[in-house]
Amino acid sequence: MKNYRLIIVLLLISLCTACKPKRTEGAIQIGFSQAMSSDNWRKEMEKSMQVQSSLYPNLQLEIRNANNSVERQIQQIQDLINSGVDVLIVSPIKSEPVTTAIENATKAGTPTIIIDRNIDGTNYTTYIGANNVSIGRDAAKYILSGIKDHATVVQITGDIASSPAKERQLGFDAVMESSTKADLIATINGDWEKPSLIRPLTNLLDSIVPNYIFAHNDRMAMGVWEVLKNHDLEDSVKIVGVDGLYGPNGGIQYVKDQLLLATILYPTGGAEAIDLAVKIVNGEYVQKNHTLNTVVIDSVNVDLMQNQFNKLIEQQNDIERQQNVIDQQIKAYQSQNTLVKLMIGLLVLLLALSLWSIYSAIKIKRSKRKLELINEKIKTQRNQIKKFANQLKVSNESKINFFTALSHEFKTPLTLITSSVESMSEQNKALVGKSAFEINLILNNSRRLMRLINELLDFRKLETGSFLLKPRKTDVLEVLHKVLDDFKLEAVKQSVHLKVKHPKTPCYLWVDVNALDKVFFNILSNAIKFTPVQGKIEVSIHQTDQELKIHIKDSGIGIPQGDIHNVFDPFIQARNNQRPSSGLGLYVAKQLVELHGGTIEIHVHHGTEFIITLLKGDRHLKDLITDLEASDHLRNRPIEEEQLETNSYGLEPQISDGNFPNLLIIEDNKDLCELLRKQLQDNFNIYISYGINAFDKALTLIPDIIICDLNLPEISGFDLTKKLKNDLRTSHIPVIVLSALADDESYLKAIQCGADFYMTKPFQSIALKQVLGTMLYNRERLRYYYSNKLDSVVSEDFGKQEQNFVKMVNDMILKNMTNPDFTVEELAKTLNISRVQLYRKFKAILGVSVSDHINEIRLERAKELLADISLPISEIAYEVGFSSPGYFSTVFKSKYGMTPNRYRNM
Ligand code: FRU
Repeated sequence: MKNYRLIIVLLLISLCTACKPKRTEGAIQIGFSQAMSSDNWRKEMEKSMQVQSSLYPNLQLEIRNANNSVERQIQQIQDLINSGVDVLIVSPIKSEPVTTAIENATKAGTPTIIIDRNIDGTNYTTYIGANNVSIGRDAAKYILSGIKDHATVVQITGDIASSPAKERQLGFDAVMESSTKADLIATINGDWEKPSLIRPLTNLLDSIVPNYIFAHNDRMAMGVWEVLKNHDLEDSVKIVGVDGLYGPNGGIQYVKDQLLLATILYPTGGAEAIDLAVKIVNGEYVQKNHTLNTVVIDSVNVDLMQNQFNKLIEQQNDIERQQNVIDQQIKAYQSQNTLVKLMIGLLVLLLALSLWSIYSAIKIKRSKRKLELINEKIKTQRNQIKKFANQLKVSNESKINFFTALSHEFKTPLTLITSSVESMSEQNKALVGKSAFEINLILNNSRRLMRLINELLDFRKLETGSFLLKPRKTDVLEVLHKVLDDFKLEAVKQSVHLKVKHPKTPCYLWVDVNALDKVFFNILSNAIKFTPVQGKIEVSIHQTDQELKIHIKDSGIGIPQGDIHNVFDPFIQARNNQRPSSGLGLYVAKQLVELHGGTIEIHVHHGTEFIITLLKGDRHLKDLITDLEASDHLRNRPIEEEQLETNSYGLEPQISDGNFPNLLIIEDNKDLCELLRKQLQDNFNIYISYGINAFDKALTLIPDIIICDLNLPEISGFDLTKKLKNDLRTSHIPVIVLSALADDESYLKAIQCGADFYMTKPFQSIALKQVLGTMLYNRERLRYYYSNKLDSVVSEDFGKQEQNFVKMVNDMILKNMTNPDFTVEELAKTLNISRVQLYRKFKAILGVSVSDHINEIRLERAKELLADISLPISEIAYEVGFSSPGYFSTVFKSKYGMTPNRYRNM
């Protein structure tokens, strides 16, 4: 940016300098000090100088006007010397005072040309001018030539301190003195201008009137004429002047107008002075004196002279015109030159800017490249971090999954322990002392462990967002009291006063009972943990139209102020909490309350107070309520209680009965298998597979019903269910999935694999038994339909697969109706299953044996054919696939209680 400014400033400076008039380098500088510029002769001199200068293209002329002031002229001469002019031209006002100034110029090495008036001495380069002595002589001679007898003459001089006046007088006087024809009666000293003579001449005329008056220049000569005219003497006295200027107020015109007798041409020498200056500058030799020619102009040659001057003036005008044209061209050239310079300047600027742009572009490109590299690095680092984060996430996830799976694994044995201990406790109620205490200890700790595991599983579900609330309209007071009951004993043990204050009427809210139970339990267990002996826990309920607030306040150690904000974070414990804890209780409580659209606050003041706020109505849980209703008929309600119902079924094994349905339990946990066996053996023939070769076992047994776990060692429960349901031999067997996985995803997957029912662990054995019963009852209904309304089985209530199977078998039998060799073996072979499997499947679906079923179809057809009396019975027997009419008759009779013949005649 700075550079841009600098370039612009330099450009402007150079442009300004170009526009300003100045001495051209290498040009000839000529300085002219003019005595004055008031009269036409001087003007003519300057004009001729300028015209002549214009003929030299490389010449500069500077004219300074001293305005008849000697001091000013001396100063101007000095200035011109100082300015370093090549040649100095001076027309001195007076001789003596200007001499020193001219000598200074010579000393300074400045060549000097003296023009018209001279100085004292010869300390200059050259002098140019007419011979003024000669002019004086010529004037006197001319006057004398006109005198016949005798005449009187008066002389009026110029400023006698200037050389022309002195010399003209000298020449004039000399001729006059030598002549007898005329007397110079008076000499009046003028100063080159009219006013200086008027009074002296007027005075003179008063006494004498001369015949001739010689004035040293035409301006004074016209002054003489005016004075004479005032005396009416203008025709009596003849006047001779000097200068002979051309033009209306010049001497030539006065002569032509017969105002003057004659005038002596006094050339200005302006043009010649310029020529001389150029010569000097060019180093050419110049003479010390350049005398200009003079001539007397009178009536005889005045026209000639005027013509001459006319031509001269015309030529001069031509030159001037041409000069003007040249000037204009020069101006045009100069402006074009300026323009070109400007253009060049701009081009340079453009070039500079272009270079600068290129430089900047390269710089930017480099910076960009650098940035890109940095970006690339950051990207790589970011990707690495992402990768690490992902790895961490995966490892974290697998750890959590491991713990979750482990928790699931813990759950089953723990359920068994709890269930068994409860059973023991129930059966040995009479126990007292140490044994009772120990059983109770095991029970309490099993329950405690179960709670912790559930807490961990809840945490996971909350983390993954898979915790599904199942809200029901519930009396919150009832839930609270249930939880409080659990703590009553603990409170008594710790001498903690547990005080409850609540409304008398029930407080119905839409809540998930299990979730709310956990919330109350966690908060209360926290309170009891931190309340010292003799402390107090107060539970109170307050309600408005919109909400219900449950305050649980303890007089415990409180929570340090700095820990309050993260008391609900998982795995966090307050600094003053030295008790062992999972750090999940309060987190789970808060999440569950928030899932209900409620809030949970904490206040610390002489202990800790938790305030749980729950909303009234069901608007905030509407979706959940709908979901729940929709899915309720498909799925069993999770049974969260750790306790297994054992009182309805004895634990003692029962002897298997041939009338009982066959139940195959596929479960890798041997203890659970045993428990199930004990619980179900009263009603089922129990077969157990620990998960190895479970499918083969199912194929061998073709059981009536299967209970299947999901986590199996060899094949997952999902895949096994799928396999069972896709195999013709086993597809009819109802499968109940019994799993610790309580998430919706597992449930859906199991159903998609063909499971008939999904039950989560821990389970109530009564519920399981109910489910088993229902499944078998449905199977029975199906069997009834198949065996009694064989052709009209259209109900959608029953398995499509079974319907298809039965139809397929029936079609085969009908196709082979006349074939007596079409037996059970043949049918099993066609279906690619064993005879036994076919038998069991048939028995399961239709409740009859395969051969009975084949016979039944044959006999049904026989009944139809018997209606046609033209057909002999023996033919009918063969037509329906019996090998002999006798065997047909026996089978028919055993089925319908009469022979075919009798049947036909009925
Ligand atoms: C002009 C002039 C002329 C005269 C000359 C003498 O200023 O007065 O009339 O001839 O000077 O220097």
